[in-house]
Amino acid sequence: MCTAVGFASKGYNVIASTHDAEKAAKINQGIPPFHEPNLQNLLEKTVQNGYLKCLIDQTEKAVLETDLTFNAVGTPSRPDGSIDLQFIETSSRDMGKALHKKSTYHVVVIKSTVVPGTTQDLVKPILEKESKKKCGPDFGLCMSPEFLRQGSAFEDTMHTDRIVIGEYDKKSGDTLENLYKDFYAKNAPPTIRTTLSTAELIKYASNSLLATKISFINTIANICEKIPGADVKTVATAMGLDKRIGPLFLNAGLGYGGSCFPKDVKALMAYSKNLGYPLKLLDAVEDVNKTQPLKAIQFCKEQLGNLEGKRIAILGLAFKADTDDMREARVIPIINQLLEEGANVTAYDPVAIPVAKTVFQNKIQYATSAIDCLKNADCAILITEWEEFKKLTPEDFTMRMKQPVLIDGRRIYDPKIFSRKMKFVAIGLGQ
Ligand code: UGA
Repeated sequence: MCTAVGFASKGYNVIASTHDAEKAAKINQGIPPFHEPNLQNLLEKTVQNGYLKCLIDQTEKAVLETDLTFNAVGTPSRPDGSIDLQFIETSSRDMGKALHKKSTYHVVVIKSTVVPGTTQDLVKPILEKESKKKCGPDFGLCMSPEFLRQGSAFEDTMHTDRIVIGEYDKKSGDTLENLYKDFYAKNAPPTIRTTLSTAELIKYASNSLLATKISFINTIANICEKIPGADVKTVATAMGLDKRIGPLFLNAGLGYGGSCFPKDVKALMAYSKNLGYPLKLLDAVEDVNKTQPLKAIQFCKEQLGNLEGKRIAILGLAFKADTDDMREARVIPIINQLLEEGANVTAYDPVAIPVAKTVFQNKIQYATSAIDCLKNADCAILITEWEEFKKLTPEDFTMRMKQPVLIDGRRIYDPKIFSRKMKFVAIGLGQ
């Protein structure tokens, strides 16, 4: 979506195709089908100006009327963690059939996250079979992963740190690099041109290292909690000043969620295991991430004892701020465990409540604001680092809660201020 709007906003003619009629209808009215900051205005403008339109299941028309196709279909996990490539297969067949009818050169770019070998060994043969043409002379093929983050996806699209182009042949790579050069103009970031498989692996290696950084700092946070006076935030700040380490992705918390890290770490593990090289390092990264959200329950029990009948306020449902996405959100195992222990849960999130209702139905209560959520609560757990939660003062908690106990799962509150006014517990804070 962000790639489509990005290109359309710079005057390229973009034709999108999806099988989801509801999504297409929203896009064609200029309404983003999900919450993503900074997307609405430009989507509206580009649709109104005719630079972007979304078709329903018309890959053929999209391919015939354009010069290059970005394939960005989903690549979910199978139950064993390995990658499910069914949507890549279907879309490759559709693109291949369209290429059969096309008389001019066209480049197919795989943007979806796929394990090494997919573009060469799955996409290319399907495209060649369906088009009855030869990859290279007749059409081009590239693999160009994206590195955008939900919540800042549009910004990340317009200002990326690097471009990675995996190319089947030089002509395919040249065509895509020229497009990116034209798109980014003077702000063109460093571009790495490489093989299809290397490009595929770069994406997994990047996401796995970021997930590793998070599990690493969460491990340090768990040590800090056992050391009186220690604070993981200070440890992370000091570590981050070392240029070799860097300050980003060292925020300790309740673990990573979302549609990417959990899925990609699992897919790389399954892929590598299949190659005869099980990834012990990522095993540990995953393991830390699985137990990390349960710290919230441990803290809760340490403060309240038995949770039966206790009222717990949950601040934040989305897997991170600025999105309504709850895929693999760390709040899910937390709420499930609270319910298991007999607690009454009331939750609030600025945008994710409609999504949460599909996850928890009426097993929990939904508040209309953060303040409303805190009313009569025995304990509040801060789960998502939304800006509006950062503005809450100790009094917002103490005046409304039955007993003011706050668990800061994302380290957004100042312990010096909050611990003076209430029972304050936080990830990575030695008591
Ligand atoms: C991630 C990567 O950051 C993107 O570069 C990549 O393109 C994307 O996956 C993808 O594969 O499509 P995203 O999942 O949208 O992006 O969001 P992140 O900002 O990476 O956050 C992921 C999770 O890690 C969140 O639950 C967040 O709360 C958690 N996190 C992040 C931490 O716990 N600590 C941190 O320091 C940073």
